[in-house]
Amino acid sequence: MTTTELHTVGDFAAASLGAVRVLEKNGIDYCCGGRRTLEEVCAEQGLDASEVRKQLEQAITAEPSPQRDWATASLRELISHIVSTHHEYLKLELPRLKQRLQKVLNAHGDKDPETLQALSRVFLGLWQELDQHMHKEEMILFPAIDRCEQASRNGAPLPPSPFGSIANPIAVMEREHDSAGQALHQMKELTGGYTLPEYACATYRALNDGLQELEADLHLHIHLENNILFPRVIEMEKARR
Ligand SMILES: [Fe+2]
Ligand SMILES: [Fe+2]
Repeated sequence: MTTTELHTVGDFAAASLGAVRVLEKNGIDYCCGGRRTLEEVCAEQGLDASEVRKQLEQAITAEPSPQRDWATASLRELISHIVSTHHEYLKLELPRLKQRLQKVLNAHGDKDPETLQALSRVFLGLWQELDQHMHKEEMILFPAIDRCEQASRNGAPLPPSPFGSIANPIAVMEREHDSAGQALHQMKELTGGYTLPEYACATYRALNDGLQELEADLHLHIHLENNILFPRVIEMEKARR
């Protein structure tokens, strides 16, 4: 792949994990904002687009396609990766983060009550949203995608669906991704970019590390769905209609 074919931020992120790191280092949103061009995002954030493009090209050349090539793998395989890697991570980590947050609130809630309570509110809201979101993906959308892919493989007509075009539930999932992206952004702002206060104890540090890991994992997760899975499903549906 030549990097001149890459235009959107999502294209770059899909090209290599090295590119994902460059985007993160420059504070560029590649998951919910993945459909915007690199030039557009750089102009808005006051970044030198040619310099960022150079860094991205170097990262992609140094590490060509280190990930499974999700642009060509079956959708079933991609979905199974998303569920076993990212959904499982959330199901395991969110309760642990909640416990740490509760401990920090108990120990330090009096020192900075406004920030910690706001952080707790945003975190709990995000958890609840993600819980329902993953449930909808696993129980409704992903099985529907699987049925479409199997029909498409067998040259059979697409199975009837209760929600009309598959683009409809996808649009709902994308809106929910935007909302999760906003919650991550709010948590980062509330913590001053995850800066630890002087009084931070070991649990506070573990909470901070865990929230940063959550952000990185959720960005990759949303990127795989918004920039790779969903566009492929929409293309597949169009090709069969
Ligand atoms: Fe998901
Ligand atoms: Fe999702």
